[in-house]
Amino acid sequence: MKIQIINGPNLNLLGVREKSIYGDASFESYLVELRKRYSNIDIEYYQSNVEGEIINKLHQIGFEYDGIVINAGAYTHTSIAIADAIAAINTPVIEVHISNVYKREEFRHHSMLAASCRGVIAGFGMDSYRLAIENLILK
Ligand code: DQA
Repeated sequence: MKIQIINGPNLNLLGVREKSIYGDASFESYLVELRKRYSNIDIEYYQSNVEGEIINKLHQIGFEYDGIVINAGAYTHTSIAIADAIAAINTPVIEVHISNVYKREEFRHHSMLAASCRGVIAGFGMDSYRLAIENLILK
């Protein structure tokens, strides 16, 4: 089984950025734990701060992988183009957020991507990614 995790803008700064919201672990250190826990699954990781690069990655793997877990960061709230890319591919996509976006500013309450995704997981810290992987394993 092959799963792609895609992190969008500013998520390369996890562990450094707004620690009270996003915690103090880097994504790379979390990924080591995740890969140990799911050693039977191929978990690929891609991060980009560039909207078009995220779209290119979705096109590249979206007809081939078994599942995609995407945290599009702030593009979640703005990007019709990423939403269209998710709708265009046939690999199931799960939207995740580290923080509970519904407890935060109102502009974070709306997702452009959610309607094209299988589901949304938000507010469980880094564990949001693992919960999404659990769903992809089940189905
Ligand atoms: C985020 C929530 C977004 O609103 C924000 O722009 C991010 C991170 C999260 O994981 O909680 O960059 O997607």
